[in-house]
Amino acid sequence: MAAEPAYTWDNANPHATDQLRHLTAVLDPPTVAGLSGLGDLAGRRCLDVGAGNGTIARWLADRVGPEGRVTAVDLKPLDIPPHPRLRVVTQDVTAGDLPGGPYDLVHARLVLMHLPERLEVLGRMAGALAPGGTVVLHEWDCTHPLRVLTAPDQAAADLVTRANEALCALMTSRGARLSWSYEAHAAMEDAGLTGVTTAFGARSWRGGSEFCLLHLSNTHHLTEQLTGAGLTAEDLVALREVLMDPRLVLAGYPLYRISGRRPD
Ligand SMILES: C[S@@+](CC[C@H](N)C(=O)[O-])C[C@H]1O[C@@H](n2cnc3c(N)ncnc32)[C@H](O)[C@@H]1O
Repeated sequence: MAAEPAYTWDNANPHATDQLRHLTAVLDPPTVAGLSGLGDLAGRRCLDVGAGNGTIARWLADRVGPEGRVTAVDLKPLDIPPHPRLRVVTQDVTAGDLPGGPYDLVHARLVLMHLPERLEVLGRMAGALAPGGTVVLHEWDCTHPLRVLTAPDQAAADLVTRANEALCALMTSRGARLSWSYEAHAAMEDAGLTGVTTAFGARSWRGGSEFCLLHLSNTHHLTEQLTGAGLTAEDLVALREVLMDPRLVLAGYPLYRISGRRPD
């Protein structure tokens, strides 16, 4: 039997539901703003790769109308509620062709950065496009330090920084590429896409807000791995406290949106 890909956050983990809830609360507003820039989606055929809990696939399904359709594919789709215009496919996208197609829009958010086979998967995403179709990626730049703008004290700021470094090292050890967000533009051009553009932005988050809740849920999801990476049980208790402290303010990772079209 083939080994399962070493994706850092397994959707079978009991904390995955919380993780994806907080992740989508943080990222859906800028993602929806970006996808809205594609114009009227009525009648479009869309694929969301690594759809997670399906919030973006369902947002698309609400907009494609009776003539459109959406496919959500994930290694382990997580409780995606049914929708009349949405098909959910359980599949490892590194293992072969993407389901269905051709598509007018192929989207992936925070998926390719995790996959060592990201270039092959990007090639398949581009290959699944109908002429004139668009690939859109949303990726965090995790080479950007998680900047602590304010904290209750220096020890709390240092702890947040240390925990983020441990998390990034863990992701890297599992095959993630922290710099993929700003390497994807060239990769899209190499994949034959045209009119490639990149836009990016970030904002601040206070202790207790969704971005901090995401990090809090990560400390539960990855307790064993973070402890293995040098954080003590006491560090984790202190970290969980500071992530809920309104005196903490973090600058989140920049979110990159990279898009390119298949020529007509
Ligand atoms: C960080 S989550 C992002 C989920 C969703 N795209 C979002 O932004 O809300 C990454 C998702 O990619 C999926 N994934 C990881 N490796 C995969 C693979 N080889 N094939 C298909 N899906 C995969 C995971 O199961 C997870 O749902």
